[in-house]
Amino acid sequence: MSKALVLCGGAGTRLRPFTFASAKQVLPVANKPIVHHIMEKLALAGINDAGVIISPEKGSIVKHCLGGGDRWGISVTFIEQNRPAGLAHAVAAAREFLGECPFLMYLGDNLAEVNLRDYWQDFLCGSDDAAAFLKEVDDPRQFGVAVIADSGRLIKVVEKPAAPPGNLALTGIYFFRKTIHGAISRTKPSQRGELEITDAIQSLIDTGGSVKGHVMGGWWHDTGSVEDILQANSVVLKSMEHRPPQGEACPFSTLEGPVIIGEGSRVMQSLIKGPVIIGDRVTVKNSFIGPDVSVGDSCLLDGTKIENTIIMHGCNLAGVTLKDSMIGSCCSTHKRNAGNGCHRLVLGDHSHIAMD
Ligand code: TTP
Repeated sequence: MSKALVLCGGAGTRLRPFTFASAKQVLPVANKPIVHHIMEKLALAGINDAGVIISPEKGSIVKHCLGGGDRWGISVTFIEQNRPAGLAHAVAAAREFLGECPFLMYLGDNLAEVNLRDYWQDFLCGSDDAAAFLKEVDDPRQFGVAVIADSGRLIKVVEKPAAPPGNLALTGIYFFRKTIHGAISRTKPSQRGELEITDAIQSLIDTGGSVKGHVMGGWWHDTGSVEDILQANSVVLKSMEHRPPQGEACPFSTLEGPVIIGEGSRVMQSLIKGPVIIGDRVTVKNSFIGPDVSVGDSCLLDGTKIENTIIMHGCNLAGVTLKDSMIGSCCSTHKRNAGNGCHRLVLGDHSHIAMD
């Protein structure tokens, strides 16, 4: 068995209003739940047994989204964490599932362009206590930051430092051996009241443990906020395989760049500028869509102009110009008078907006 722990608990406060009704890990990026992207990555790494941390409040949503994991060939075990008390607390909650095994830990709101397979095999064959995937960032103050030696091993990790000791952020991907459990038991809650995985890693280092750092070359996105999700959506859309639309799906329309159109969808008298993904059973009329737009299944867009936006399934949008927006499922917008105003909307599920 090759084990992973995927963290899908947490409060998700930065993604309200979506996280009032849903879990952030199931929000769509390029029309696919974030946690599905992660399961694909784990399957490619050779993982076949995943523990998924869930919260008491939103756990059923994550369960529904993942099922038993069959479609990825991964056996999924759901583990309830009674409160969002930190990443190390989540590992402690999974102690029984993890047993003595090494495990790959993946934060359920992280997306990264990295092939973990070789790194994971090397880790299993080697003797490091842990490995952390790192990414150079412009402003490290909002992240856990690592300092690495010439050997590539971590010397120090600091959580959200006011004066960062470097620009290597800890992404949400780690490998651990059973020694992490002892380190967590030595860790005390931080000032914000959480058991931090960075403190546990520092404890591992301080007690002579070896923690390898892997600096990632590809993109990495933490999807913790609306801005982050839109950026991740844009990057994932750009990396998707372009499938030209079949049949007579797009009368009197122009499609430029990579555009994916789902089954049973129609695009009429419209300009679609990729990268754009349009789900199944969608109707687009008299609209300009793109770039960087995802439209979920069963939507109707009429007389719209939409750029850099995620629209979830079942929306009915008429007459609006939207940019940098995120529209929850089953929302409707209606504009009474034609005007050129462009709007940025963040709408939770089932919102209805009428604009003059
Ligand atoms: P965070 O984004 O650090 O925390 P959060 O989900 O509570 O969000 P916010 O800061 O907006 O309130 O969490 C990173 C990932 O780890 C995310 O997928 C949720 C998960 N997580 C847990 O599973 N248990 C926890 O105790 C915490 C804090 C996070």
